[in-house]
Amino acid sequence: MPEPLIRIANLYKIFGKTPETVLPLVQNGQSKDTLLAETGHTIGLRDINLTVEKGEVFVVMGLSGSGKSTLIRHLNRLIEPTTGSIHVGETDVLALNQESLEAFRRHKLSMVFQRFALLPHRTVLENVAFGLTIREIAKDERDTQARVWIERVGLAGYEDQFPAQLSGGQQQRVGLARALCTNPEILLMDEAFSALDPLIRSEMQQQLIGLQKDLQKTVLFITHDLDEALRIGDRIAILKDGEISQVGTPDEILENPADDYVAAFVRDVRRAP
Ligand SMILES: Nc1ncnc2c1ncn2[C@@H]1O[C@H](COP(=O)(O)OP(=O)(O)OP(=O)(O)O)[C@@H](O)[C@H]1O
Ligand SMILES: [Mg+2]
Repeated sequence: MPEPLIRIANLYKIFGKTPETVLPLVQNGQSKDTLLAETGHTIGLRDINLTVEKGEVFVVMGLSGSGKSTLIRHLNRLIEPTTGSIHVGETDVLALNQESLEAFRRHKLSMVFQRFALLPHRTVLENVAFGLTIREIAKDERDTQARVWIERVGLAGYEDQFPAQLSGGQQQRVGLARALCTNPEILLMDEAFSALDPLIRSEMQQQLIGLQKDLQKTVLFITHDLDEALRIGDRIAILKDGEISQVGTPDEILENPADDYVAAFVRDVRRAP
């Protein structure tokens, strides 16, 4: 039986001076362009409803500006919604106070960033162990765990190197090892592979798929590339102007695109060699 882990309901995010005052317009279907022209507010997300199951790789895909980063940043409340609800397991994420939010961020989820976001003056080992440092775990224990993950992502031997001494792909392996080292239930990956060369990128996709076979994490993965989405996603949500156009398995998306926007992505993938 699938078990929902992340549940997002009726989520709206409007950027601007007084989001609450324009919310009714957005709820009544005001277009993103018109809202911006008439009120100076930008629709980030409109009425997002989705569930992500435990152990699933759930991909959110869409063009630049469609709201992908806005959506993923709600999960750890780097962004606060205008209205809506977010649950992770039994936790009502929007009800967490500062202290429980920090604990939630530290234990439940980890983020892998597009530009790696490594600490430049720390070694690979120190970078990977970093999430454990702020958990006050003894150094020996931290290092032992960090070494396990460094090995897992194929970087054994690089423990004492600094990020600048590594290639982009290697740096992103460090980012992945760092995220996994705290043993989070959920991995948030915002365009994590988008800055990499095509060959390295497809190696990283394979690595993630391989790791996922053993680890069965719940992964929320953002990309603007349908090809990547189809490769790694169990299900894919397609975002357009802050709204979900379609949620489906790779086969469902390919065989039954819900609208012209989705169909255009599918045509692009089919055309690729
Ligand atoms: N802090 C902000 N203030 C105002 N508008 C914002 C802010 N953050 C995002 N937006 C707007 O919200 C919309 C969604 O942006 P978002 O960054 O989520 O898109 P994205 O799908 O991640 O794009 P990309 O692929 O370029 O990263 C855009 O129209 C953007 O201009
Ligand atoms: Mg983004």
